[in-house]
Amino acid sequence: MKKISQHGQWSSRLAFILAATGSAVGLGNIWKFPYITGENGGGAFVLVYLLCIFAIGIPIMMAEIMIGRRGRQSPINTMRDLAKEVGASGAWKWLGWLGVIAGFLILSYYSVIAGWAMAYVVRVGSGVFEGATADGVSNIFGQFVADPEKLLAWHSLFMVITMLVVARGVKGLERAVKFLMPALLVLLVLLVGYAIDQGAFKEAVSFLFSADFSKITSDGILIAMGHAFFTLSLGMGAIMVYGSYLPSNVSIGSTAVIIALADTAVALLAGLAIFPIVFANGLEPGSGPGLIFQTLPIAFGHMAYGSFFGTLFFILLVFAAWSSSISLIEPAVAWLVENKKMSRMRACIWSGLVTWIVGIGTVLSFNITSNIKIFDKTFFDVLDYLTANIMLPLAGLCIALFAGWVMTKESAEEELDFKQLYLFKTWLFLVKFVSPVAVVIVFLKAINVI
Ligand code: TRP
Repeated sequence: MKKISQHGQWSSRLAFILAATGSAVGLGNIWKFPYITGENGGGAFVLVYLLCIFAIGIPIMMAEIMIGRRGRQSPINTMRDLAKEVGASGAWKWLGWLGVIAGFLILSYYSVIAGWAMAYVVRVGSGVFEGATADGVSNIFGQFVADPEKLLAWHSLFMVITMLVVARGVKGLERAVKFLMPALLVLLVLLVGYAIDQGAFKEAVSFLFSADFSKITSDGILIAMGHAFFTLSLGMGAIMVYGSYLPSNVSIGSTAVIIALADTAVALLAGLAIFPIVFANGLEPGSGPGLIFQTLPIAFGHMAYGSFFGTLFFILLVFAAWSSSISLIEPAVAWLVENKKMSRMRACIWSGLVTWIVGIGTVLSFNITSNIKIFDKTFFDVLDYLTANIMLPLAGLCIALFAGWVMTKESAEEELDFKQLYLFKTWLFLVKFVSPVAVVIVFLKAINVI
């Protein structure tokens, strides 16, 4: 018997692609990818990241969508029921829980950074960056993050708009994303154009694409792999829960490939827009989370109609973050509705409140508590490292094992419905062996066991 989801269904294949791409394309691509690439030495890091996307990310994305559609419930209940169907342990539901917790933790800091992007809509719009020097732009950023009240206000606003959308279901966002994602792409291309014209483009291209493996550490490899999960929204049930709203006749394989390619394209374009400006202005590529906020305003400050394009850019970045943030909380909300019989509204208020409170920790870690460090990391750094580099790959590993070894081959084959048998066999080989082994090797390398 085919199951249906009590929360509804996407209206079409395109709607799903837009929603999932909306989830995948976010701060991860435009804010995080450039700064971690900068911190980890460039080309070799990018190469490892791309390898992880193709060998680990895409097969696991297919597995997540497939499991979600097979279960048609929140990830926790889906894992529990699918495990029960094949007589496997009920403990698989903890995988769903791991995802829900990771989602809360990620959203708590994601919302703070999205708040920065909102603040920059106003800053760029007011023209403060016109003609500004690299130093001036850095100072403005430094003063901004030093002010906890400002960060808290923007974080609060972002949490409110996120929960408003989730409360009303994702239909509205589906419509908005249809226009906004292409617009973001156009603006990114425009910025790359500016960077080619005005920036140190050659230097940036060689930084991004010539791999010097002496520059990458085993921790860098872990960060590249963690980012592949983060940027594709994998390992926490976001894509699983979106898959549970997917009509049964849509092919999963090609859809996952489209989403991953779109996501990768946006990240690389962001890199090509940002690094030419970094090098042309003598900025430090490894300057951390503030990187885009310290580089792009320089470009906007000098190009014709820069304040206009800059405002537009940060608006679109907020939208990209918005369409991602809703997917971070959807698994928790779906579970509260299913198991606690809450209305969607109530479920949103509770989960939003918890996330908002945890987010205050991140707000303070950029100013008042910036000196309090665990393993040389601030609260924000710890959350980011723990979620992206440990929780997501760990959960991804379990998802691959579940899809490859626990579910029956027949049910996976039926759900994925590949047109050619060799495609299914390739996928099965990847989730059974390649992805799990790769994740384990990277983990072991990061803790210096191998
Ligand atoms: N992929 C998003 C980004 O790149 C962030 C995100 C949304 C996410 N949903 C997720 C990350 C689920 C991990 C898991 O900005």
